Amino acid sequence: MNPLNPFAASPQVVTVALNPALDQTIEVAGIKLGEVNRALRMQVDVGGKAVNVASCLSDFGVSTAVTGQIGRDNAALFEELFQRKKIANHCHYLDGLTRINSKLVDTVSGDTTDLNMPGPELTPDSARDLLEQVLRRLDQLAGQVQWVVLSGSLPPGMPADAYAAITRKAQAAGGSVVLDTSGAPLRAALAAGPKIVKPNRHELAELVGRPLDTLEALIATGRELLVASPGPDWVVVSMGGDGALFLDREQALRALPARVNVSSTVGAGDAMVAGLVAARLEGLNLADTARLATAFAAAKLTRLGPHLPRPAEVRALAQQISVSPVG
Ligand SMILES: Nc1ncnc2c1ncn2[C@@H]1O[C@H](COP(=O)(O)OP(=O)(O)OP(=O)(O)O)[C@@H](O)[C@H]1O
Ligand SMILES: [Mg+2]
Repeated sequence: MNPLNPFAASPQVVTVALNPALDQTIEVAGIKLGEVNRALRMQVDVGGKAVNVASCLSDFGVSTAVTGQIGRDNAALFEELFQRKKIANHCHYLDGLTRINSKLVDTVSGDTTDLNMPGPELTPDSARDLLEQVLRRLDQLAGQVQWVVLSGSLPPGMPADAYAAITRKAQAAGGSVVLDTSGAPLRAALAAGPKIVKPNRHELAELVGRPLDTLEALIATGRELLVASPGPDWVVVSMGGDGALFLDREQALRALPARVNVSSTVGAGDAMVAGLVAARLEGLNLADTARLATAFAAAKLTRLGPHLPRPAEVRALAQQISVSPVG
């Protein structure tokens, strides 16, 4: 276990990074597969959804901690980000490397090829141990932490109900959970009653096992989640360049995306989750939450990594977001 970062001694938010990643981007002019290629440039960014959420929250001035796991052998890049952004490091250290996801960018065709690694292969014992470590950390932070963010995939070998177990424990201790994952972990954790869930439209369609090709279908399906027992208080369905739906039991709102110069869409959903949490900490209503969360996403689109401009700029952007009732 790493010594705590002394800066964020009493975090309001903790994000759980069970399967973080380093994102390696390599630029090549005209990639030829099966041949020796000369690369133009390489960049390595710390990533993974939970780390992205923490990074955006910290940029907005919210005191944030990260728990979960990182590989000892390339931990330095994560530690540097945590230090720089004053994010408290409560991660468990595993032997070996944190997974590296590679992006091959062909500067001639403009195509990006992603090679994503699954993450560390956990044995049943190491999965149990990691989950226990995370639950213990959350226990230690309970009382101060208002929001627990469960974002991203689980590493191979981690049981699909890991987020469900964390949701139950965190909410029993008085925190609220926002859930952003997919597949079996999403289904299992929904049954544990997280307060907010943010699928994108594809993740929602996969959850219910039918195509959701219209706004009406997305709204109706979001409402099904809200009236389930236990149901979340809020459902947010992100739709990429088509904006996002914000639903509670009374209202359905659509926020249109801001018109910004897009540098990278990677992590837009993670920025939106960070914005949702920031809005809940400020006690904003559904419409103002839709504005702030969309502004977080828009602000992130203008940057390559999971970083936001100054909070005043994000708030100014929020004022320009169009939100209207739907359904
Ligand atoms: N191309 C785009 N143009 C404008 N806004 C966008 C674009 N892509 C995403 N956004 C904004 O970001 C929000 C979240 O994006 P999206 O629905 O792609 O999330 P996601 O699929 O969860 O992404 P990820 O998990 O990769 O971070 C959208 O609701 C929208 O406001
Ligand atoms: Mg997402």
